[in-house]
Amino acid sequence: TTAPVTVAVTGAAGQIGYSLLPRIASGAMLGPDTPVRLRLLEVPAARAAAEGVAMELDDCAFGLLAGVEVGDDAATAFEGADVALLVGSRPRTRGMERKDLIAANGAIFTAQGRALADHADDDVRVVVVGNPANTNALIAATHAAGLPARHFSALTRLDHNRAVAQLARRAGVPVTAVRGVTVWGNHSATQYPDLGAATVAGRPAPEVVGDPSEGTGWVAGTFVPAVQQRGAAIIEARGASSAASAASAVVDHVRDWFLGTPEGTWTSMAVVSDGAYGVPEGLVCSFPVTTRGGEWEVVPGLRLDAAARAGLERSVAELEAEREAVRALGLLG
Ligand code: NAI
Repeated sequence: TTAPVTVAVTGAAGQIGYSLLPRIASGAMLGPDTPVRLRLLEVPAARAAAEGVAMELDDCAFGLLAGVEVGDDAATAFEGADVALLVGSRPRTRGMERKDLIAANGAIFTAQGRALADHADDDVRVVVVGNPANTNALIAATHAAGLPARHFSALTRLDHNRAVAQLARRAGVPVTAVRGVTVWGNHSATQYPDLGAATVAGRPAPEVVGDPSEGTGWVAGTFVPAVQQRGAAIIEARGASSAASAASAVVDHVRDWFLGTPEGTWTSMAVVSDGAYGVPEGLVCSFPVTTRGGEWEVVPGLRLDAAARAGLERSVAELEAEREAVRALGLLG
């Protein structure tokens, strides 16, 4: 048997935490042979609720669960962590300006980046879920002196999974028949879900959905806005934001990062740009990536049609504006 992997989860008493923690402890994220030790981090006011989640994890009697610790101190929660899932963030409340939201989260992710650098395993892999996820990841990576920026990511796998599911439904096939979908850009309504290189059972997706032309028909008229607005549609229907699907996407993101994307396809993940596809260096942007063993590579050489190029540029402009706002607040050092 392998040694337990230490997984720290922030925002552990929140809705995503509640769906995510049992999936991790069951082995869905790191595989059926890897025991996990969980560290649940919350703010002091939600610590008791996190203790309750830990009690339920005990009650699940998961064979792979090597221990659960709950706390409100980042240094303790991140000590020796191999994986850190930064789910907790400050939600936007009524009357709160965007600038205040960025400042509040900037403080959280600055402190957590530093705590990761000081306490986590040198080889830790970090996934930022809390919004604005891409920019929070940029802040955390900036303040995690000594940890490679490549080991920080933000979650766009939920957007990717939504795109895959919409395409499969339209084509009348199981999701496993879909390959080569990409979500570009920011985890926000400006993201661009791209079917340009996607296939359905080996056939080009635009042809399968009866939309071979650029920028017209089902893809531009229905698919792209449906994926971009799916988060809002869930809130409208459920009265609360996506939680089970977000948790499932975190599980997929980490599993693929460590265990590898399947042969012949890729996934979407927001990672620090090295300038690929014209995305300014240093922005944390969603790209098509192949992954294995905790490393990732951007899929090279994809051809973006005019709509995808414009969509990516628009989302990148938003990421640049977020970076400027954060820089103006002195949060990038
Ligand atoms: P929630 O409000 O139910 O839970 C968030 C939890 O984080 C709360 O219990 C809160 O006490 C805790 N928290 C706040 N600041 C913290 C800190 N500094 N340290 C530790 N814990 C802290 O929210 P929910 O629904 O679980 O969502 C969490 C975040 O994930 C939100 O920012 C949401 O917008 C984002 N999200 C991102 C998605 C993505 O695809 N990237 C998808 C869905 C949600």
